[in-house]
Amino acid sequence: MPRIRPARFVHVVYRTRRFDQMIQWYETVFDARVQYQNPVLAFLTYDDEHHRVALINMALVQPAATEADRSGVIGVDHVAYTYASVNDLLENYAYLKEKGILPYWCVHHGVTMSMYYADPDGNQMELQVDAFASSEAANDYMNGPHFAANPIGIEYDPEEILAQLRSGTPGSDFLMRKSDLPVSPIRGSIAA
Ligand SMILES: [Fe+2]
Repeated sequence: MPRIRPARFVHVVYRTRRFDQMIQWYETVFDARVQYQNPVLAFLTYDDEHHRVALINMALVQPAATEADRSGVIGVDHVAYTYASVNDLLENYAYLKEKGILPYWCVHHGVTMSMYYADPDGNQMELQVDAFASSEAANDYMNGPHFAANPIGIEYDPEEILAQLRSGTPGSDFLMRKSDLPVSPIRGSIAA
């Protein structure tokens, strides 16, 4: 079987203690627009991708930390790669599992079905599949009630989905987030 590769590189997420300034900077420098914003999260894009840059407001997530607490507190949170299908994402999961590489967070964000991996340095990689076929539909979702109800996502068991795929369930059955609850805790270094 040929190796499964990402279809494209799609976004970077930064942790910041200068939330408003950062939003303004990305709007100015990249001519980006805010797709979705709440006090903790902002998603920006400059083209038809649903987000190219996202910002996490660490002033609210970890109010006791300071700008000088470099490790895990400010900087790059994760980068993201989009795969062509749910089957690709899950078969790639199975391939990596055989190599002893496992995701630390499997979450359906609503707009993407995602798996987060850490490289040996702890850099976080989000491998994802787009839930929506068009960017218009993704944009509508991000501005609708389901995303507002849960902009983090709901966790899923990759083994369960892999088993269903291998027994013939079409991958497209998993594209839509089935419910808005429960809201997953944010995992990864920002939770450390
Ligand atoms: Fe992401």
